[in-house]
Amino acid sequence: MNATVALTGATGFIGKHIAEHLLAAGFIVRALTRSPEKSADRRLAWVHGSLESSDSLRELVRGADSVVHCAGRVRGQSQAAFMTSNVTGSTRLLEMAKENSCCKRFLFISSLAARHPHLSWYAHSKYVAEQRLTAEKGPLALGIFRPTAVYGPGDKELQPLFRWLLRGLLLRLGQPQTQLSFLHVCDLAHAVIRWLQHHDAAAGPYELCDGLPGGYSWPRLREIGAAVRHGPVRLVGIPLPVLRLLAHLSQALQRISRKEPMLTQSKIGELTHPDWSASNQLLSERIDWAPTIRLEQALRDELF
Ligand SMILES: NC(=O)c1ccc[n+]([C@@H]2O[C@H](COP(=O)([O-])OP(=O)(O)OC[C@H]3O[C@@H](n4cnc5c(N)ncnc54)[C@H](OP(=O)(O)O)[C@@H]3O)[C@@H](O)[C@H]2O)c1
Repeated sequence: MNATVALTGATGFIGKHIAEHLLAAGFIVRALTRSPEKSADRRLAWVHGSLESSDSLRELVRGADSVVHCAGRVRGQSQAAFMTSNVTGSTRLLEMAKENSCCKRFLFISSLAARHPHLSWYAHSKYVAEQRLTAEKGPLALGIFRPTAVYGPGDKELQPLFRWLLRGLLLRLGQPQTQLSFLHVCDLAHAVIRWLQHHDAAAGPYELCDGLPGGYSWPRLREIGAAVRHGPVRLVGIPLPVLRLLAHLSQALQRISRKEPMLTQSKIGELTHPDWSASNQLLSERIDWAPTIRLEQALRDELF
């Protein structure tokens, strides 16, 4: 019989791709959803509920051999909100997985940000979640993935940066000397499948990126943009005071629109951090995975 995976976050950007890859690899997928309108795909067995509800999480993991925990709060106004979703929600799901005797593996989609927990509420919450899951995993084989900035079809965060790059304008949000890294969502989904299928589900944490040694500098990104569009690219730095002002405006707008802001004063810590380079070495050695899509190719082939 095919193995069953309980997946959270399947209504979001990355989770949708993981669900597609799981189905293509022959897994049966049980998926958590908070919104009926986002869960029309009948190939998945949807379980209604959220990370806040033990009952729905118990139902989600029923009969599952593995859990892929991809749901997470990526925007928000307070440390408490990040902790509730990313820490308490994750440990609640782990508890339910431990109660279920079929369940052997638990993969947590953390973030490269967890490498620097002091930078933002988000980074801190992912780091604390990793620590708590590691301490409380019991007999489960726990895996922790720390993907860098992920892009691909359905992404809304990086897509504007790349669209503008291909129109000839690169907006530099961080410091001039920052090293960045990126990962195509299909490569991340492949890594999830490899980890689930590999006989040795060692924990990590594992960094994941597209494998360009040393990562991307802003001038390198400009060069890539220019090569792909066959034309010049202007690199324009956004000064820190302007970034701070934009964060104030975004937080004020949130109070009117009631939408969670991505750009907050807390997020600026991440944006201005100088080193977001990453290494696949550990994961590649453990599960024989390697990324296949470099950013330049993705921009040329419009894989985003
Ligand atoms: N995108 C990146 O560059 C990146 C990089 C590294 C790590 N990650 C991690 O990857 C994961 C997915 O990110 P994403 O970019 O795909 O974000 P996304 O598009 O915002 O998706 C987030 C998913 O989590 C679900 N979710 C959030 N809070 C929940 C809760 N309390 N209960 C149940 N479901 C909840 C959302 O459900 P709704 O659809 O109902 O909102 C959605 O399915 C996150 O854990 C994020 O930290 C992302």
